[in-house]
Parts: sequence; structure tokens; C-alpha cells
Amino acid sequence: RSTILSGIQPTGTFHLGNYFGAIKSWHDLNNLVKKSEGNSSLYFFVADLHSLTVPQDYQMLQKQRLEAYASIIACGIDPQLSTIYYQSCIPEITSIQWVLSCFSSMGYLNRMTQWKSKANLKDNANVSDENALGKVKLGLFGYPVLMASDVLTFRATHVPVGQDQSQHLELTREVAQSFNKSVGSKYFNDPHTLLTPTKKILSLKNPLKKMSKSDKEPLSKIFITDSANEITKKFNKATTDSIEGKLTFDLENRPGVSNLISILAAVKNKSIEQIVIDVEDFSKKELKEAVAEAVINELEEPAKKYKELISNPEYLQKLSDLGTEKARIVANRTLKDVMRLVGMSSY
Ligand code: TYM
Repeated sequence: RSTILSGIQPTGTFHLGNYFGAIKSWHDLNNLVKKSEGNSSLYFFVADLHSLTVPQDYQMLQKQRLEAYASIIACGIDPQLSTIYYQSCIPEITSIQWVLSCFSSMGYLNRMTQWKSKANLKDNANVSDENALGKVKLGLFGYPVLMASDVLTFRATHVPVGQDQSQHLELTREVAQSFNKSVGSKYFNDPHTLLTPTKKILSLKNPLKKMSKSDKEPLSKIFITDSANEITKKFNKATTDSIEGKLTFDLENRPGVSNLISILAAVKNKSIEQIVIDVEDFSKKELKEAVAEAVINELEEPAKKYKELISNPEYLQKLSDLGTEKARIVANRTLKDVMRLVGMSSY
């Protein structure tokens, strides 16, 4: 029996990177589970506590949590088949995080790269460096332990993520093994990393960077709620190159064209090689038109559903209450087991 789990931070409505890097693969897994007739459990959540690791406008965060929850369902995750919840509504996760933090080595956390990039430090920054220490909050440094707890609380067997999250899952396995060894039980299994087929969608304006919510250039990203006109305009203005002749996939020398090819491959569920065969004789303008048309088609349903959902906060509340209830039953069981294993059987 498999347990699939993944989370996403509430950075507002999703862009194409989130869509292809995360939610679409969750959706495909959702469909797989439908076929397997209930032999798997699915957990998807809004990682709102993780957002507190960087400065936030809390009123805005409140709104973005709801937008993220609505986006997950709008993109086709079925709340009947999957348990969908806000991380902050499951207090067992943070209780288990405390226990796991007692099994997490500072040295290992020190080697993680995300706290460095989020604190604008160089990759070789180190916690023994006073300058780095001053800039970094304990929550940001311990971010991967909370992520390990997200995964281990539900005893997930498979975790679908983009490339940037895979080192956090290595840490998760490390912590699980360290816990098991200490308590003399094989309580936690090793969760597998499922790398999503579209590892990285790039910015449409500067294809040397990944598509990101924090990018100030509005033409760099496509939101799942963009109108057909906006999508056409953004792809029309996408940066490509001046190389003539056939279109080729070459991330190093032709990142703009390659990004458009990746997006088309993701929409059509085809390999990059197949898409190159399909489009190599297109002009760049034709490629942009083909991608825009495919993306408009792909997002039509999610955009419509999102508008319906976001205008019905009571319904979303009902769904998240249900998700919380289902998730807490499992989380509570793990918390009791974990506490018993570390000598707190009266818990
Ligand atoms: P987050 O919110 O940064 O991203 C959510 C998912 O989207 C993927 N992703 C991308 N993939 C391709 N191209 C892009 N441009 C792009 N941008 C984002 C990410 O790899 C990720 O899979 N720490 C996690 C959330 C989290 C989590 C967890 C995930 C918290 N606990 C437990 C799995 C299991 C994060 O910040 O993802």
C-alpha cells in the first residue's frame, strides 16, 4: 500500500512552474489512484507554516492560503480521493517536528542550500560564520525538519517534488533512520522521492532563471488564472534567440526556445524529442502561437474552476475542515506512537 504526499507554499494563485512542477503530477497520481481502487492514500497540503520562515505580510498570507487551497482543487485534485489540508491545522506535525529535531544533525542542516538562498547568503555560507548566523532565524534553518515531519507524520512512501526539494527528502530519510536506530524499531520507512517530469519551468523574459512568483517582471510568468489574451500576449513577448534555421532543444545556447518546447511537452504529455520532431520546421512565431494555444486549452478548466471556488469561501472552509479531520486521525496515531517510542507512554 502506498501513501503519496506533497505540499506547496501559499504564494497566491499558481504559475506554470507550480502547475507543471507540482500540481499536474499530483493530478496524474490522483488519477492513478482512482484506477488502483483505493490501494493508495493521497495527502496534499498548503505548507503555510513554511511561509513563516521568511518575512510576510500576514493579512496577505491569510488571503494567499485560501488562494492556494482553491488552486489545488481547481487544478483537478479531487477532495473525495485526496486529503487536502492546511499544514497549520494539524498541530501533531509540529509536535512530531520537535522530536525529530532532536534527531537532526546541525552539520547536515548546515549543508542544505535553501536557507542560504532565502537569507541571500552565498552557497558556502556556514552557521559557524557570525555574519550568516545573524541573518538566519532558527525557523529558516530548521525548515527541512518541518518538511521531514510533514512527510513522516503521514508515513508517506512517495513524495512527488521538483528538483529543488530533493535534498530535503534526503534529510528526511536521514532523520527517519536516525530515529529508528535510537528507538530500536523500524517505525518509519524511507520515503521515495518522485521527481516530477517537468523539473524546471523557466522565466519567459529571462530564461536563465526559473519561473518564480517573486519575479517583478509581469511578463515572466503565466498564472493559471490568466485570460486567453494575456497568455497569448505573454508568449508573444517571450524571449527567444536570433539563431536561424530549424528549432532545436538546447538549454545552454537556446534557453528561451527550449523552455517553450518543455512547456509544450508538458502540456501534450509527450517527450521533448517527440515535440522537437513536431515543431522543428516552425518559425519562432509559430512555436509561440502553438504553445499559447496549448496552454490556453490546458488552463481553461482550472481557471474556470478557480473562479467558482474562490467566490465560495464557505465551501472551501467545509472542504478544509473535512481535510483537517481526516488528516488528524492519522497524524494523531503517529504522534502517539512516536511519543511512546521516546518514553512518553502516558501521552
Ligand atoms: P514550493 O512551494 O517552493 O514549490 C512547490 C512544488 O513546485 C515545484 N516548483 C517548480 N517546479 C518546476 N519549475 C519551477 N519553476 C518550480 N517552482 C516550484 C517545487 O519543486 C515543489 O515540488 N518545501 C516545499 C513545500 C513542502 C513540501 C513538504 C513538499 C513543505 N513540506 C513535504 C513535499 C513534502 C516548497 O517550498 O515547495
